[in-house]
Amino acid sequence: MRLVFLGPPGAGKGTQARELAQEWGVPQISTGDMLREAVAAGTPLGRQARGYMDRGALVPDDVIIALIAERFAQPDAKRGFVLDGFPRTIPQAEALGRLLEELGQHLDRVILFDVSEPELLRRLTGRRSCPTCQATYHVTAAPPRREGVCDRCGSALTQREDDREATVRTRLGVFTEQTAPLLDYYRRRGLLTRVGGEGSVESIRANIRRAAGTVPA
Ligand code: AP5
Repeated sequence: MRLVFLGPPGAGKGTQARELAQEWGVPQISTGDMLREAVAAGTPLGRQARGYMDRGALVPDDVIIALIAERFAQPDAKRGFVLDGFPRTIPQAEALGRLLEELGQHLDRVILFDVSEPELLRRLTGRRSCPTCQATYHVTAAPPRREGVCDRCGSALTQREDDREATVRTRLGVFTEQTAPLLDYYRRRGLLTRVGGEGSVESIRANIRRAAGTVPA
C-alpha cells in the first residue's frame, strides 16, 4: 500500500490519513506534522521552516526532499505508507519517483480530495488542533467532547497560526499555482483517482477504501 493523498489545505487529508494508515498497518507520513514537530522542538529545520509556514508559503523543495528521504530510510516505511501533504510541487514528485525507483518500489495510487473553496475556508477557520498528539477537530462539524480539550490526550487545543483567514487564502492560492499541476502529472501516469471530499467523514473514508482497492469497487 503506497498512496499519496493530494488536495488543497483543509480537504481532509490528515483526518482520513490518520485513521486509514492505522487500519492498513502503514505509517502516515505528513510533512506538515513533521515540520510542526520540528518548529515546536526548535530544531534547525523548525527554525528554517517556520517563516514559510506562518505566511502560508511552501518550504523549499530541497529541505522537504531531504526530510522525506530520511523518513523513507526508517524501517516502518518499507511496509508502505500514506503520504499526506507530499509531494506538493513537480520537483517534489520527480524526487519521489527517483527515491521509489532506488528502493525498487512504485506508487499504487494518488487520491485527489475534491472540496469547494467556501467549504475549505469554513473548515480551516474553524479547525482546532492538538499540539501534542496532532488530532484535529472543528468547532461545529467535529467538536471535542469538552470544549477546547483534546479527546485523545487531554491537552489544550490551539488554532494553527496558518489557519487565520488571510493566511488560508494565501495557502489556497499556493495550491492552485504550485500543487495543482501535479493533477495532470499523475493523471498522465494513470495514477490519479478523484474522491469527493464533502459529506460525512465515514462516507468519504469508504470511498477512499474503494479508490485504494482495499474493498471491491
Ligand atoms: P500541511 O499541514 O500539510 O497543511 P495542508 O496541506 O495545508 O493541509 P491541512 O493540514 O491544512 O488540511 P488537511 O487536508 O489535512 O485537512 P484536515 O484533515 O486537517 O502543511 C502546512 C504547511 O507546512 C504548508 O503550508 C507549508 O508551509 C509546509 N509544508 C508541508 N508540506 C510541505 C511540502 N510537501 N512542501 C513544502 N512545504 C510543505 O481537515 C481540516 C478541517 O476540516 C478539520 O477541522 C477537520 O475536522 C475538518 N474536516 C475534515 N473532514 C471533514 C468532513 N468530511 N466534513 C466536515 N469537516 C471535515
